[in-house]
Amino acid sequence: MAKLTTKYMGLTLKNPIIAASSGLTNRLSDIVDLEAQGAGAIVLKSLFEEEIIMEARDNINKMQATGFIYPETTEYFDYDEMEDPIANYLKLISDAKKAVKIPIIASINCVTSNKWPEFAKRIEAAGADALELNVFVLPTDMNRTAEENEKVYFDVISKVTSLVSIPVAIKISQYNTALGSFIKRLSDTPIKSIVLFNRFYNPDFDINTLDFTSTTVLSTPTELALPLRWIAVMADRVNCSLAASTGIHDGPAVIKALLAGADAVQVASTLYRNGFGYIGTMLKQIEEWMGEKGYKTIDDFKGKMSQSKSHNPAVFDRVQFMKFFRNRVRE
Ligand SMILES: Cc1cc2nc3c(=O)[nH]c(=O)nc-3n(C[C@H](O)[C@H](O)[C@H](O)COP(=O)(O)O)c2cc1C
Repeated sequence: MAKLTTKYMGLTLKNPIIAASSGLTNRLSDIVDLEAQGAGAIVLKSLFEEEIIMEARDNINKMQATGFIYPETTEYFDYDEMEDPIANYLKLISDAKKAVKIPIIASINCVTSNKWPEFAKRIEAAGADALELNVFVLPTDMNRTAEENEKVYFDVISKVTSLVSIPVAIKISQYNTALGSFIKRLSDTPIKSIVLFNRFYNPDFDINTLDFTSTTVLSTPTELALPLRWIAVMADRVNCSLAASTGIHDGPAVIKALLAGADAVQVASTLYRNGFGYIGTMLKQIEEWMGEKGYKTIDDFKGKMSQSKSHNPAVFDRVQFMKFFRNRVRE
């Protein structure tokens, strides 16, 4: 029988499938259900830096105006429904810790390292097993250089990791310059995991009405290609765990991410589409594949297709489609 346990950022997970931070991970009943359906760990919905520093409505209006993040941000900031988001969040952590055995990873969405990092101590005190920092610095700001943007990440990491002893992960987007060097330098800090990549809301509009429309909130399986390349490239070059996020919709996609070198995967869209029960299907697909291939543990195959271990490392450096088009033209 295949053994699915894996080590992720110093935590032992019963399997590598983590329920990603989303609207599916901010209710106790859902957290209990996610564990029952087989999730290896849960990343709670992010608490926003703005909430922590209590610059409530003004900032929120600004965020809405710029289409800053997910459509459900508005819902999240409904102060009439959620009188005290901070107290509710800390309570969710402690209630979840009492209700389930799997690791509970809290999450903070931050855009600066100002004022809020002390709050990480309260997250630790509430019982969270780990903390994921969901950092996003808008790269469209023409007045900021790449160095200034990067500094935010390093400042956040340095402050938070000096305050807590639980493992800290950083979830980043692909919108960073010299990505390989950036990821490597992040891994040289005290963080214990890098999550590649967060997925953002992208604006779209109707060509007839010129109205803005929302693009798909949920990912598609083809979107795995981007994190897959970067996990494979970075797997043997970082000093911390790697988690793959975006486009992992089924068991084979989980296997791919692990083969590329991920220690765990985070899934959201597939759970929105297929329900929590689909975690069981994915686990079965992984077990069956491991059985067929004769793998007994995740470590038996993890990283086999990383850039440094695969039989064709150059594939991960190739960016042009030339061969593909040449073949097509001749068909
Ligand atoms: C409705 C929704 C809400 C999300 N909220 C958060 C969030 O609060 N914090 C965060 O780090 N990621 C958030 N995400 C991103 C997911 O954690 C995940 O990185 C992204 O959806 C890509 O994974 P997927 O392809 O499995 O959906 C959200 C995603 C969705 C669909």
